[in-house]
Amino acid sequence: MTHPDTDLDVYLHDADRIEALRADVRAGLSASPKWLPPKYFYDARGSELFEEITRLPEYYPTRAEREILTDHAATVARVTGAKTLVELGSGSSEKTRLLLDALRDHGTLGSFVPLDVSAAALHDAVGALRADYPDLHVRGVVADFVNHLEVLPDTGSRLVAFLGGTIGNFTPAERSPFLTTLRAQLSVGEWFLLGADLVKDPAVLVPAYDDAQGVTAEFNRNVLRVLNRELDADFDVDAFTHVALWDARREWIEMRLRAERSMTVHLRALDLTVPFAEGEELRTEVSAKFRRDGLTAELAAAGFTVRHWWTDAGSRFAVALATAS
Ligand code: SAH
Ligand code: AVI
Repeated sequence: MTHPDTDLDVYLHDADRIEALRADVRAGLSASPKWLPPKYFYDARGSELFEEITRLPEYYPTRAEREILTDHAATVARVTGAKTLVELGSGSSEKTRLLLDALRDHGTLGSFVPLDVSAAALHDAVGALRADYPDLHVRGVVADFVNHLEVLPDTGSRLVAFLGGTIGNFTPAERSPFLTTLRAQLSVGEWFLLGADLVKDPAVLVPAYDDAQGVTAEFNRNVLRVLNRELDADFDVDAFTHVALWDARREWIEMRLRAERSMTVHLRALDLTVPFAEGEELRTEVSAKFRRDGLTAELAAAGFTVRHWWTDAGSRFAVALATAS
């Protein structure tokens, strides 16, 4: 179906999105400890806040990944010779332009398919891309990369990019089925380009998720605004403070929202009442950090062989180019 306003292909319909939100929020806020899935950060405001995060001095992943793509996009184009570039969780597709330019220069690229849950982010990205790449067929897809991978276009000779370190926002238990499902959609010899943030000193990691200007705190709290709007809830957003901590055992950053006073929240659309104790923390995101051996093994277990592994000069971030084997 094509969205009437935006000229996007919509697989994640509003009714299904709300149904999933209702089920996830009921499960997460009834659990102990409480949690929410990170995909609900990304309404129009959340997507804008994420873009602001990418420009913060403390948030190195975007700059590090851009450095890698600047250095190696031409090799990606030569090695893959891709006709179709699919991007999962594409957001603004800003860095992806480096791949589009290289594939265009290589002469193989015919179409680009950015896929995202955020129709607002996709709408803006597709508009800008169509203007800047008039010869490219750009098809924006509103979909959930967990539930809708079967909608990938079956053009053959595809390169699927999953950038930004978004793979880290899955828990390890979620990663394996995601990679296996993605592999099942591809034919032997098609390509997967994966950006992953690397394990490093917590003195660098933690400020990236707890910036001095408080943009990440606003991004984190935005999920409560989404719940207030979509589920007729009454979270006092200002009563929650942003927490970012490094879990050294699981090697992930965890973002939480801490209730600064005891309160009772009503989610009227769910007919749900949720008590918070003073100091109680709600987990809103994990952002796992990777090591080369571990990620290569996870990819291999899903049927991908890593052909190239590139890092930025500071070894903060990696981009792996893998083939479906
Ligand atoms: N790839 C971009 C954006 C990363 S932000 C970059 O590297 O800068 C993460 C993006 O993934 C957001 O645009 C968000 O809307 C999208 N996203 C999060 N969960 C998703 C899901 N389950 N399915 C599809 N997109 C998702
Ligand atoms: C999209 N994702 C890779 C970001 C990250 O770094 O985990 C989301 C984010 N959360 C806080 N800051 C940025």
